[in-house]
Amino acid sequence: MSEDFEPKIIAFCCQYCAYSAADMAGSMRLQYPSNVEIILIPCTGRFDVILALKAFEAGADGVYVAGCLEGNCHFLDGNIRAKKRVAYLQKQIEQVGLEPGRLAMYNLSASQGPRFAEIVNEFSATIIHLGPSPMKKKLAA
Ligand code: FES
Repeated sequence: MSEDFEPKIIAFCCQYCAYSAADMAGSMRLQYPSNVEIILIPCTGRFDVILALKAFEAGADGVYVAGCLEGNCHFLDGNIRAKKRVAYLQKQIEQVGLEPGRLAMYNLSASQGPRFAEIVNEFSATIIHLGPSPMKKKLAA
């Protein structure tokens, strides 16, 4: 893959944990790629197929959902439902020609700023390895 490829990543972050962790990573001035667009959602339980497809249609090369640790969702089981939804969607996107690895789910607590930065770095590396989203070409055609 070209070293010039800078993937566009969209992260749907739950307001209680992941978003706070992102905030902390910023406050701690931790290094992570700036190509991640963070979208605040009330809970990962709100993540659905429409949000995922809209993100890919908007040019995302990778999409991830980040929510509270299992057992700590403020809406009880939103993150468990999101986990199942992401697993289901990974199979669905494969059928339209997107690699399942372009969609992921992470769990972290509000105090895990360093983990947030690590996730962005890890996921970004995965997407760089996969290359640009094939959906971009399909939409441009
Ligand atoms: Fe954070 Fe539900 S409130 S995942």
